[in-house]
Amino acid sequence: MARIYNFSAGPAVLPLEALQEAQADLVDYKGSGMSIMEMSHRGKEYDAIHNEAIANAKELLGIGDDYSLLFIQGGASLQFAMIPMNFLGENQSADYINAGAWGAKAIKEAGLIGNVNVAADCQKDIPTRMPDLAECNWTDGAAYAHITTNETISGAQMKEIPKVEAPLIADMSSDILSRKLDYTQFDMFYAGAQKNLGPSGLAMVAIKNELAARGNIGLPSMLKYQSYIDANSLFNTPPCFGIYMLCLTTRLLKKKGMDAVFAENAEKAAMIYNTLDATDFYRGTAKTDCRSDMNITFRLPSEELEALFISQAAEAGMKQLKGHRSVGGIRASIYNAFPIDGVKCLVDFMKDFEQRNG
Ligand SMILES: Cc1ncc(COP(=O)(O)O)c(C=O)c1O
Repeated sequence: MARIYNFSAGPAVLPLEALQEAQADLVDYKGSGMSIMEMSHRGKEYDAIHNEAIANAKELLGIGDDYSLLFIQGGASLQFAMIPMNFLGENQSADYINAGAWGAKAIKEAGLIGNVNVAADCQKDIPTRMPDLAECNWTDGAAYAHITTNETISGAQMKEIPKVEAPLIADMSSDILSRKLDYTQFDMFYAGAQKNLGPSGLAMVAIKNELAARGNIGLPSMLKYQSYIDANSLFNTPPCFGIYMLCLTTRLLKKKGMDAVFAENAEKAAMIYNTLDATDFYRGTAKTDCRSDMNITFRLPSEELEALFISQAAEAGMKQLKGHRSVGGIRASIYNAFPIDGVKCLVDFMKDFEQRNG
């Protein structure tokens, strides 16, 4: 089998064990004679998967029955619209942090629905960064405050979560379940599954029941959080296969233990940042105290060298290292499922590449 080291920012590498179990189950799920993709979402087999996925996620996140854990189609991008549709009323405004491309997209969507106050804007800053908490201008009486905890494209991560009066909502698409965090400080958080959880198209949403109950009741059912809560995310036919994959990945996280997951993620990131910092040949693009442990972004002395780096890395079995088209450079995304051996391989390659081209 020829698996490469896949540094994609998403859809990203999934645990090999989960893929292999899915492969074994694909045609005949545990003797049912059917694939997960072929069976009723109201049958006993799927029901067990659905409820295990929810229970696993809630346990890993450390959230209780005051939260609902929902599965919603449309990825994180639909959440950019659903949040203001549900919670941003007329004559209100919502606070947003703009620290990168994803925060900016969330702001654009919210602006189509209502009034937005940009509480801090450092989207264009170089090095890329998150705002200091002291520079954030929160509005009294805001409908909610929205943050993006990890900007996947720029590689900046929020190390300290702001404390605000308004309900706090976080896009955690690219760092959910990757580091030690008290999730009960959020009233709602969500993540597109395709980085740390499973396949794309599915968003995992955790929301305080009390917040959902205050949502706009005039919305169509599929756009209302309360519909998903009332139907345990089975209002319509859910993305069964994606939820099944998420069930497998969360099962593996439980088996490994989150402390071990967090320690390994920190070690993986430190290995690459230490290599960057040991030389002037590589230049990290995020401010040092905002460096992401999930998406490591850096430049080489020229675009020609960057292109050579990417193509030679690919020949050596390390793919999808090209930075996002909007920023260029190199981006190594090392989510939970990315193996530490792949990081060792990258670090060795970086040192060798510098020796040959520095
Ligand atoms: C931080 C963040 N938010 C939102 C999104 C959008 O997610 P989706 O493509 O699932 O809509 C992404 C996708 O990469 C992301 O990284």
